[in-house]
Amino acid sequence: MCGIVGYIGKKPAFPILLSGLKRLEYRGYDSFGFSVLDYNPPAAPKPFLFKKTGKISQFEQEFPNPEGEIGIAHTRWATTGAVTDANAHPHFDCKKEIFLVHNGIIENYQEIKNQLIKEGHKFNSECDTEVLSHLIEKYFKGNLEEAVRKALREVKGAYGIAVISEKDPEKIVVARLSSPLLLGIGNDEFLVASDPAALITRTRQVINLDDNEIAVLKPDNFFILKEKPLVQIEWTLEEAEKKGYPHFMLKEIMEEPEAIENAIRGRLLIDEGLVRLGGLDSVQEKLGKINRLILVACGTAGFAARVGEYMLEEYAGIPTEVDIGSEFRYRKPVVDEKTAAIFVSQSGETADTLAALREMKKKGVLTLGITNVVGSSQTRETDAGVYIRSGPEIAVASTKAFLGQLATLALLTVYLGRQRDMALVMGKRIVSELAKIPDLAKRVLSLAPEIQKLAKKYKDYKNFWFIGRKYNAPIALEGALKLKEISYLHAEGVAGGELKHGPLALIDENFPTVAICPSDSVYEKMISNIEEVKARGGPVIAIATEGNGEIKKIVDDVIYIPKTLEMLTPILSVISLHLFAYHIAVLLGKDVDRPRNLAKSIVVE
Ligand code: F6R
Repeated sequence: MCGIVGYIGKKPAFPILLSGLKRLEYRGYDSFGFSVLDYNPPAAPKPFLFKKTGKISQFEQEFPNPEGEIGIAHTRWATTGAVTDANAHPHFDCKKEIFLVHNGIIENYQEIKNQLIKEGHKFNSECDTEVLSHLIEKYFKGNLEEAVRKALREVKGAYGIAVISEKDPEKIVVARLSSPLLLGIGNDEFLVASDPAALITRTRQVINLDDNEIAVLKPDNFFILKEKPLVQIEWTLEEAEKKGYPHFMLKEIMEEPEAIENAIRGRLLIDEGLVRLGGLDSVQEKLGKINRLILVACGTAGFAARVGEYMLEEYAGIPTEVDIGSEFRYRKPVVDEKTAAIFVSQSGETADTLAALREMKKKGVLTLGITNVVGSSQTRETDAGVYIRSGPEIAVASTKAFLGQLATLALLTVYLGRQRDMALVMGKRIVSELAKIPDLAKRVLSLAPEIQKLAKKYKDYKNFWFIGRKYNAPIALEGALKLKEISYLHAEGVAGGELKHGPLALIDENFPTVAICPSDSVYEKMISNIEEVKARGGPVIAIATEGNGEIKKIVDDVIYIPKTLEMLTPILSVISLHLFAYHIAVLLGKDVDRPRNLAKSIVVE
């Protein structure tokens, strides 16, 4: 999500860090910062620190261009703590001697922070990362890597970090766990970066740091705790920005398992069958008394909300309704003090969703946000909320954020369900199944070559139906929307049971249907709908559960997804539909990342 660059060598570090950070701008960020050490023995090193919210270009004239050959820099995309100068990286310790940049999430930061405060540490920010600089300070006895090693033993979560200190100045210490870091091996210089784009112009020789490894970069050498092979980067700069994928959309689909992982990380209490959602702590008691939920969103986020409606009614037992922002703002919804309104939005800036939120606030309703962009209007204006933590989504069509929204709605269902009648055993079942979902999602992604072949077979059809029932009825809508918005083909989504009430009239051999029919409680009903289509000569692609050999006898093609709990099947089925839409659009030569007539964030009515 965020970006890291570090430099140590013989050249002034600042311009190199600046150009590295600029190469990370494509990922999106809300704040940035640098720290540079001027180590000129015997003069005492003077650390320089500059961090700001906003874009680098806004401040370029103000940069003092500090001296020093050692430095670290960061672009932040907020996940814990608002978008403020203080929350930007680098973070530092009480004495401002240790500076650190971090990508990832420290799950147990609150516990560590409470303990460090008791021990006398003074904090400057709300950001989870700051605990790392204070922990390193606590263990620092003259050797920085030793202090980093001891500090990291105490943290849970994910990190890629780069640390410098004026008290052990001729080095950058870096470490990783579940967050990528590369060491760049140059001529008389070493770099560290979270993304090859940041170092590709200085060196193509890199070492990928592995989980739990710590490396020390010095001006003339480096060491890691074990031997690692050198690798040559072959990517162009543009390819590097897309991590080698031809489009941001494909990169983001490939990040869907990670988006689910990020949404659930640190939030599942498997033994207790509970979910921890820190963002709802302040309204926990109020939520216990709520007896009606209204979910409001637009487009793809609206389809996530519809899946949430099925989850919340079935497992939390709360009457729930969903509306789209553009309609809800003109309704006169009847609400009372026991109603809560939940707004689902990737950007947190969608005008229609915000208008609905403001209307609900006027009526005194408890408002919650399920949002990706930290510090967005939605997060500032709701009473409380949960971040989906999907990272920046650059392609216009939403993909990985949809997965983050679905996973977060499943978490919310357990949270609210366990406040009510959901039994421990059911809580445990959902939570432990959710923990497995990222791996199952990776299995769906491994079908990409097969789905690409299907896309070749179907790309010349001009019309498509997408059908599904119950949890997968909204996924039929999402499959159709994704296909139409990036390929410009005509695609409609409809609940399977509605076919015979009209849409069936369109079916013939030129109108294929994508039928989402995992082996769940409505499987038999879906088979009847598929038979209705086949009887009229319509080709059918089924999304079915692995092991269902029978379905091959009825349909033309099958995409198999792994088995999971019925309420979580949308998470797996939709990944195959995102891939299907993507490949058809690419085969038709469309600009998949920037479809015509659309924008990423719809900030007008
Ligand atoms: C479709 C898509 C849009 C958005 C919608 C809401 O691929 O991206 O339908 O989902 O405009 O946007 P957010 O989630 O930012 O409120």
